[in-house]
Amino acid sequence: MNLNFLTVQTNKLKFNFKQKYMFPLHRGRRLRTNESIRSLVRETSLSPSDFMFPMFIAEGENYNVEIASMPGIFRRSIDLTVKEIHELFALGIRAVNIYVKVSENLKDNTGLEAWNPNGLMQNAIRAIKAACPEMIVMPDVALDPYSIYGHDGIITNGDVENDATNDALVKMAVSHAQAGADFVAPSDMMDGRVLRLREGLDAAGFHNVGIMSYSAKYASAFYGPFRDALDSAPVDATEIPKDKKTYQMDYANRIEAIKEALWDVEEGADMVMVKPGIAYLDIVREVKNAVNVPVTVYHVSGEYAMIKAAAERGWLDHDKIMMEQLMCIKRAGASLISTYFAKEAAILLNK
Ligand code: PBG
Repeated sequence: MNLNFLTVQTNKLKFNFKQKYMFPLHRGRRLRTNESIRSLVRETSLSPSDFMFPMFIAEGENYNVEIASMPGIFRRSIDLTVKEIHELFALGIRAVNIYVKVSENLKDNTGLEAWNPNGLMQNAIRAIKAACPEMIVMPDVALDPYSIYGHDGIITNGDVENDATNDALVKMAVSHAQAGADFVAPSDMMDGRVLRLREGLDAAGFHNVGIMSYSAKYASAFYGPFRDALDSAPVDATEIPKDKKTYQMDYANRIEAIKEALWDVEEGADMVMVKPGIAYLDIVREVKNAVNVPVTVYHVSGEYAMIKAAAERGWLDHDKIMMEQLMCIKRAGASLISTYFAKEAAILLNK
């Protein structure tokens, strides 16, 4: 834990400038003369194994529907997901985040379907691990896809009830582990859920199943296209919160992100996440400097949609913007990037 790292670095730089910098001797452009020298001094690199690919799973067979607000991203049935998994693995991608689109008749206010051993999520995990055992599978742990209200937990008296939700999340995570998940990825932002998940997984004999915690997850309008993909937006009804601000973080806050990340590490998180990505890179760096576990960053659906839309209009160069954003996320301190661009970026990097 070294919170002073940034200040120390910055002061060193200032000191060097004052003491030693003299223009004709020093020319920064020498290190930028051509691509060869630039590649020698490049501080950050990207490779396909830096990426995790978020995938949306739907019921049925041979089902493949593109999400309108996320061109190039599909809701797929399990059989077609497995096909895609083989392609991703061949490209060097080693991890996927799994989300399910649950049919309306299976939704309620308890999350019961979320730990059905033969539910869509559990079947998807089993199928992927059977087809490609080396692919790291990280199912999402949160109740929103299963909630009639579109909230990440159980609603009681007009808000998400923290501790009852944790009980449900433990059952959900254990069922993911039983299906073969390598990691579980709680995205719900309940207090204490990492500790409860760790205890629950251990008690069920899954001490080797890891936890990647969405630690600093902000209440963000950048999640819009994702909620289209899963049809999981909070419903508009009196008596329930119209947004997720009582559990997801206020985007005006920075110190709070460090607090949340440190708590999660203490509770047993193997990795922490900052989400969204590009607009939150200051947070990524702060968290990176504060914790001693890998930091992952979720480059979310709205960030993806913005680039796709601008590129479609010819306003931005798609591939260049994609690579720039991914590199900048890595530079900010990400060990892993969850991104809808994973496949396209891997194809470019393999060229
Ligand atoms: C739900 C969840 C969300 C995302 C990942 N898990 C949406 C939300 O919190 O409302 C968003 C991911 C994205 O926008 O790409 N627990």
